[in-house]
Amino acid sequence: MRDFLRRLPKAELHLHIEGSLEPELMFSLAERNGVSLPYACVEEVRAAYDFSDLQSFLDLYYQGMNVLRTAEDFHDLAMDYFRRASAEGVVHVEMHFDPQAHRVRGVELPVVMEGLSQARRHAQRELGMSTALIMAFLRDRPAEEAMALMESAAPYWEMLDAVGLDSAERGNPPAKFVEVFERARQLGIPRVAHAGEEGPPDYIREALDLLDVCRIDHGVRCLEDPELVARLRDEGVVLTVCPLSNVRLRVVERMTDHPLPQLLDAGLRLTLNSDDPAYFGGGMLANFEACAEAFGWSKEIFIQLAGTAIEAAFIDETRRLDLHRQLAACL
Ligand code: ADE
Ligand code: ZN
Repeated sequence: MRDFLRRLPKAELHLHIEGSLEPELMFSLAERNGVSLPYACVEEVRAAYDFSDLQSFLDLYYQGMNVLRTAEDFHDLAMDYFRRASAEGVVHVEMHFDPQAHRVRGVELPVVMEGLSQARRHAQRELGMSTALIMAFLRDRPAEEAMALMESAAPYWEMLDAVGLDSAERGNPPAKFVEVFERARQLGIPRVAHAGEEGPPDYIREALDLLDVCRIDHGVRCLEDPELVARLRDEGVVLTVCPLSNVRLRVVERMTDHPLPQLLDAGLRLTLNSDDPAYFGGGMLANFEACAEAFGWSKEIFIQLAGTAIEAAFIDETRRLDLHRQLAACL
């Protein structure tokens, strides 16, 4: 099974590139940029990754990305991840990035965009990997700040495959961001949003109704609302589920409690993703393997999940056909 899961051509639709920052790279970037870290060694960093909820993770996530200063840093961050992912059989990566979390320390959007764009070209050339870019708004920051970011991103609108919504969910409903998502819609930029990770099922409904999203990131709490589950199924809404993330952030207690089997039984369209692989104990392969172990799934189920990711990816139809062919060839 392990060999099969590695060979399976996997498209990752839910990854925060800043959450792929491994402690080793954190230390080398800290040294390169003269940034001091509150840790003595990489083991100490890993030991600190013991989270009680989303906020306890976000505190360390925003602290960790403090080492990212230059375009080269963002390039190295992304390439470090793309190489690891490619070695695990990942063929396509859609990365969220958080410009507001960089701007607060004077790292402006052009720096981030230059580094990530270089890495995307590099990944295509070196690894044959396609990538997509999702500019995320921080939902625990004011809506006006999100709108200012949207406008300041004008030189890059064409390069954005989507905009997203992340960070602390509770108390920050999708409704807060209606205007900026409407602006993205006017500009023809697709939309996704985190909803129903820690927040209630109503946030999933709001994301669909008010933000007009084409995918829901996480969405696992939909199961608390049978009517919503029926709607998600009928409308074929794709949920980008992150099992190891949900365990580490205590959305569920352990893998065997994860609602993935119920979501699948309910007829929902699902994909498996790593979210923040450096913080949650592994990348795509680790997430697939954890599901195989916890649920005893057959190869057919993994093929179905991998197929859904290809169907829901922000890629052109030529690449989609290419990936479907790779998936068929791996059987
Ligand atoms: N930012 C990075 N990872 C996140 C997650 N799992 N939920 C919300 N915001 C995030
Ligand atoms: Zn996420």
